[in-house]
Amino acid sequence: MDAKEVAARRAVADVQEGMILGLGTGSTATHAIRLLGERIQQEGLRIRGVPTSQRSKAQAEQLGIPLVSFAQVTSIDMTIDGADEINPALHLIKGGGGALVQEKIVACATRELVIICDANKIKPQLGAFPLPIAIIAFGWQATLRHLEAFSYPVHIRTHTDGSPYRTDDGLYIVDMACGTIPDPVAFEQKLKSLVGVAEVGLFTNLAQRVIVGYEDGTTQIQERS
Ligand code: 5RP
Repeated sequence: MDAKEVAARRAVADVQEGMILGLGTGSTATHAIRLLGERIQQEGLRIRGVPTSQRSKAQAEQLGIPLVSFAQVTSIDMTIDGADEINPALHLIKGGGGALVQEKIVACATRELVIICDANKIKPQLGAFPLPIAIIAFGWQATLRHLEAFSYPVHIRTHTDGSPYRTDDGLYIVDMACGTIPDPVAFEQKLKSLVGVAEVGLFTNLAQRVIVGYEDGTTQIQERS
């Protein structure tokens, strides 16, 4: 069994009639969106989704999942999303798929952020995965210099043809190879205070529940205390 799908299935089983749901982005979240579509088809489950990227929006539309925006809702009951790394305090690195800005806006408007993953994402410390930082395109060279001052290797994310990757919001992404991040809460605040930085892929104190899926079909659930 696909461990990511196992985690997604467990999370989607908790979705209840009438919920407003944040729809995450990435290969794990894709399973959750597909399984939500199945529940809508098979059980007539009525939910409405807030997508975190154009990709998730397109998938949800294709599956007939009704969508709403922040013009229609003020809070989200539950968001199901993936992550690149998760530490024992349930702080996260997200943004490997480039959707960190919309993912964080949705996460911050959500009563329960449920992270689904396989066991490879669980780490004793954050930082082995390069930290995605979304920056405003104007003056990106100046912002990059501010980020270089932290003395970690940084590079602008590009497509295979060398052109800069742009988020759905037209931002650039800098990937910062930190190695380890001993204090994710303080580091998130430090990076966010820099001019030109739009959002940081550190999601601290946001996840309430992490569901780890395993190939044998079992799950392990971690809750934030
Ligand atoms: C996208 C994300 C993803 O949730 C994260 O990159 C994990 O992706 P995957 O489920 O494909 O491993 O933050 O911006």
